[in-house]
Amino acid sequence: MDIDAFQSKLNELQSEATRRIRQAESKDEAIKAKNAYLGRDGDIQEMMSIIGELPDEDKPTAGRIANEAKETVKSAYEARLEELEQLQLERQLDEESVDVTLPARTPPARSPHPIAEVESELIDVFTAMGFEVAEGPEIETDFFNFEALNFPEDHPARDMQDTFKTTDDHLLRTHTSPVQIRTMQAYQPPIRIISPGRVYRCDDDLTHSPVFHQIEGLLIDADVTMAQLKGTLRHFAEETFGDETSMRFRPSFFPFTEPSAEVDIGCLFCDGEGCQVCGDTGWLEILGAGMVDPNVLETVGLDPDTYTGFAFGMGIERIVMLKRGIDAIRHFFENDLRFLRQF
Ligand code: PHE
Repeated sequence: MDIDAFQSKLNELQSEATRRIRQAESKDEAIKAKNAYLGRDGDIQEMMSIIGELPDEDKPTAGRIANEAKETVKSAYEARLEELEQLQLERQLDEESVDVTLPARTPPARSPHPIAEVESELIDVFTAMGFEVAEGPEIETDFFNFEALNFPEDHPARDMQDTFKTTDDHLLRTHTSPVQIRTMQAYQPPIRIISPGRVYRCDDDLTHSPVFHQIEGLLIDADVTMAQLKGTLRHFAEETFGDETSMRFRPSFFPFTEPSAEVDIGCLFCDGEGCQVCGDTGWLEILGAGMVDPNVLETVGLDPDTYTGFAFGMGIERIVMLKRGIDAIRHFFENDLRFLRQF
């Protein structure tokens, strides 16, 4: 073979190799094509061994053009690999593409939970009268939940609120009244607070749940009278249940108020005629209230001869049930969307 034949054979192999490489549809195909020419037994590689058979003066030229051919094929291979990668990426983007013209999904309409809603309505009623919102912990000590509120140890009044204990001295608060004590310890009169929050009792039936919500009220100042308590609660009843709502105070007992009262409103369902909801009495009990007991004032270091005050506490669920005609308290805590979506 002379140098011309060598050159034309090499040209032929080079264009064959680059064509095959450019046509490769995958990385594997490209590798195979490259190896067929540049691999150990590849066609171009074999041309290298022929160089030795050429006349001496042609050997350098032959070596140079053989190397050039190898380089050309190698760069064709590298270029194809890059192309294939790019194609692969485009295909992937195509498959995963997002149709930005699709209409957005509308999030479902949201509304506050009926308890949260009524709670904030009640807060509005009382803050408009000058009460401020105060909060306290749900895990309380025996002192704040009972003792400071004048519940003597072993007194049967504690049975009214059979409790969940967490330690010997800690319990899930059974009412929001401990916030009365915490507030009186922290601030000097005049004090006007309401305190909404969760409370816990060992109770579970149609109208009682082991967890429920209360809103507490406390007002301490010089010369506070029971008439002011009545006026405050009357305004609350009218704002909450309507201007025509009637209200009555029944004597009752709470260790931390004296005198104490149970407050009823005229039945909203039968106008006082008597029905199933009011148990034929014509009245609905909605809260407990009274004048702060002097013993409680003394416990927090206030002089009962200087200060008097009133307190009240009501269950929020009960008020929501009455306002919205809900027949069982458990609906509030079951998170059943069929119930919640109605509000
Ligand atoms: N804490 C009482 C209860 O849970 C309600 C109450 C509050 C009564 C304030 C009088 C004064 O039943």
